[in-house]
Amino acid sequence: MIKNKTIMNKQTILITGATSGLGYEIAMQYATPHVRLILVGRNVYQLNKIANLCNLRGAQTHLLALDIREKKALTDHLTDFCNQYGIDIVVACAGVSAGTLQGPESPSQVQTIFDTNINGVLNTIMPIIPHMIKRRKGNIVIISSMAGLIGLSSAPSYSASKACIRVFGEALRGYLKQYNVHTTVVIPGYIKTPMTEVNNFPMPFIISAEKAAQKIIKGVSNNKGVIAFPTTIYLLLKCFNALPNQLIDYINSKIPGKPAFENNELKEDDQ
Ligand SMILES: NC(=O)c1ccc[n+]([C@@H]2O[C@H](COP(=O)([O-])OP(=O)(O)OC[C@H]3O[C@@H](n4cnc5c(N)ncnc54)[C@H](OP(=O)(O)O)[C@@H]3O)[C@@H](O)[C@H]2O)c1
Repeated sequence: MIKNKTIMNKQTILITGATSGLGYEIAMQYATPHVRLILVGRNVYQLNKIANLCNLRGAQTHLLALDIREKKALTDHLTDFCNQYGIDIVVACAGVSAGTLQGPESPSQVQTIFDTNINGVLNTIMPIIPHMIKRRKGNIVIISSMAGLIGLSSAPSYSASKACIRVFGEALRGYLKQYNVHTTVVIPGYIKTPMTEVNNFPMPFIISAEKAAQKIIKGVSNNKGVIAFPTTIYLLLKCFNALPNQLIDYINSKIPGKPAFENNELKEDDQ
């Protein structure tokens, strides 16, 4: 009886992108005996690895080896988790990035980025929202990017996808407040992860995934609406948007491109 009560009282946290980089670090830092972690990713080997490490820290773990673009399968699993445990925090961290270094983006690159970074995020949070509303509690955490503050010439679909989920998160925040459901939009600058390893240009103020995860977890625990770091770049980009359009276009055209996807991430019609 007491054991069941203890299990019920665990905080349940779902994290997508838990197999690598930022999501991996967030999972590691959330891992304590008081927490049940639902870890989502496609790489089964990495999922098992992170689960073992979280278990060593005393966390209970559940693994979901799934592509977040699979709406039906994800909805079914998330609904089951909500009914069984209730989800207290959802961190929509999974995402992909690619750009224009080798030339204009291919249609399938754009599609993959939009499907993952927009639809994948919606597939992750939408099934959970009604349950959070019903419980009158919960935290929704959306990982956007500084790239979503301007239309980056170096990564058009990436920056558009991150702008979309940023604005969606801001809107959700206003709407869900009445139900005591908190929405946090995270706007990070460069973080040292496999995603940025491919960039061969200077990345000012780049920080470790450990440090980024610390900032996110602290901000979410305080129900912050926006967690943006580094502050200097955040403020600079806000001012950048106030410049005359021609100047914005000139500076934007000089930004070095991010590499395109590897061929194996493209559909056949692009090759
Ligand atoms: N690194 C940065 O500088 C930076 C800056 C701002 C924002 N961000 C954002 O932070 C988030 C994490 O990025 P990161 O730097 O940690 O990148 P990362 O190391 O490449 O990790 C990306 C994660 O997303 C998962 N993922 C990608 N596509 C997926 C799909 N279709 N289904 C399920 N999972 C999928 C990957 O898991 P599997 O491969 O196992 O599926 C992986 O765990 C992203 O949303 C990114 O846009 C990163």
